[in-house]
Amino acid sequence: MLTGGGDCPGLNAVMRAVVRKGERIYGDQLVGIRDGWRGAIEDNLGPVSVESFRGTLPRGGTILGSSRTNPYKQEGGVDAVKRTLSERGIDALVAIGGEDTLGVAAKLAAEGVHVVGVPKTIDNDLSATELTFGFDTAVQVCVDAIDRLHTTAESHDRVMVVEVMGRHAGHIATWAAIAGGATMLLVPEIPFDIDEVCAVIQRRHERGRWASIVVVAEGATPTEGSLALMSGEVDAFGHVRLGGIGDVLAKAIEERTGYETRAIVLGHVQRGGTPTAFDRVLATRFGIAAIDAVHDSAWGTMVALRAGDIVRVPLDEATGELKLIDPAVYEVASVFFG
Ligand code: F6P
Repeated sequence: MLTGGGDCPGLNAVMRAVVRKGERIYGDQLVGIRDGWRGAIEDNLGPVSVESFRGTLPRGGTILGSSRTNPYKQEGGVDAVKRTLSERGIDALVAIGGEDTLGVAAKLAAEGVHVVGVPKTIDNDLSATELTFGFDTAVQVCVDAIDRLHTTAESHDRVMVVEVMGRHAGHIATWAAIAGGATMLLVPEIPFDIDEVCAVIQRRHERGRWASIVVVAEGATPTEGSLALMSGEVDAFGHVRLGGIGDVLAKAIEERTGYETRAIVLGHVQRGGTPTAFDRVLATRFGIAAIDAVHDSAWGTMVALRAGDIVRVPLDEATGELKLIDPAVYEVASVFFG
């Protein structure tokens, strides 16, 4: 097993389930690879057992560690991964990750590596599965914060801009906006017009002493061009590090409306800590399904949630295109704008 990409509440729950069923039911010997694909390249791995995962069900993060290392971007990286697997006598690999980690898994599967994928990302933007574990926890963290922000915003009649994660898709932002009763929602899928955003806030404030909560996904951009402050740093999968749209937006709203506006960046708080019960159950179901897929030799597949059932889908299908927000769900949020 390996865990790659940004960490996510529920990773330990997946591995605990893989190990439990693998060891106790199938009689497997399990191995944990450290730090995602980096550990596979560097042959950094060791045996894991049911004992290794004691007490990890409620624990966030991943006890194996993670990285954004991409073997296809490193000279000799893919050969090193294959060498590690064959020299260590590893028959099958369970790769737990998002678009990037599973993209590597899909390519390796096409080259004949025995790999099964488990979808992970708080962003919930992986295709072929209705939900990824970690998403529910992230949304809950956002909603807890927004609930708290409402009372302080109302006391001071302020506009609060809440920046949440979501590089290319606004699933977290949309669910948090609906569940948190936001005044406005800005997502990467729909470029926003800053004047329209200000007009909505203005109308709301003119109706009385009403504070506003604006939820913005980190990847949201204005129609006239990007306002996001990009650090310029790019990871091994070519992603620019985002962050900063909340501050820029807050300044723009205050300048244009005259209302005191504060920005709150929830950042990695959304990724840390204990998974919700929902995520623990989903992660556990995925883990059990993954080890079953291994024993069915279902190489090149990913376990997925569809209509309440755990199914297997081709890894290619999951990694080909990102899953964007459902316009119908955005529509629900928009009824409450202003
Ligand atoms: O992929 C999950 C995610 O949390 C994104 O929402 C966010 O853009 C990114 O990871 C942040 O990555 P890092 O922790 O590497 O800064």
